Amino acid sequence: MVSHVPGGSIMELLVTLAVFYHLAALFASLTGVFLALCRLRGMATERRLIRPLILNGELHLWLSGLLIIALGVALKGMPYFDNPKLWTKVILITLWSLNSWLLRHYSRSGLDQRRIAMFAISLGSLIYGSFLGVAKPLAYGVAPFWGLLAGYAACLLLTGLLLQRSRRWLSSPAIA
Ligand code: HEM
Repeated sequence: MVSHVPGGSIMELLVTLAVFYHLAALFASLTGVFLALCRLRGMATERRLIRPLILNGELHLWLSGLLIIALGVALKGMPYFDNPKLWTKVILITLWSLNSWLLRHYSRSGLDQRRIAMFAISLGSLIYGSFLGVAKPLAYGVAPFWGLLAGYAACLLLTGLLLQRSRRWLSSPAIA
């Protein structure tokens, strides 16, 4: 789309770069969480990679996400916030950040029920956060807030069930 705002194309280029930065951070986070899960299921993974991938991924998701918001406000003004999709993302980010903190401070050995639940929140939030990010046709009230929130709850539940079953497919004998 051609911008009619002076300097608009520069702003749109900046938004594109910020989104690309956001996606790079997302890939780092997802890779880190996946490697952590493989390791907890007893697979040989490069341990030194996991922590920096997760920590840097989270930090840069925040930085790039805030940059996208700042550019969005600069382009659209305050109506930018009149978007249930954005507020669903705020709830998701709050739960995800709290959970990441708990996950780092909870004892590191094994994959018991509590850790499975924490990993489900971590992975489920990365998956649904991505869905909300790309769900632009559902923005600005097309999908109601409660509907988007129910989708998040369903995604967490499904991810939890998937992780329970991961005992079967995410274990060393299956890979060997
Ligand atoms: C769970 C972690 C997160 C995931 C998985 C995630 C994922 C994504 C993805 C895939 C996009 C779509 C990019 C595009 O193609 O346009 C996106 C957009 C966005 N993200 Fe995130 N993100 C996360 C965390 C954050 C954080 C921490 C913030 C803010 C502090 C944020 C703010 C945004 C904003 C404002 C957009 C643009 C949405 C729109 O234009 O409709 N995200 N996110």
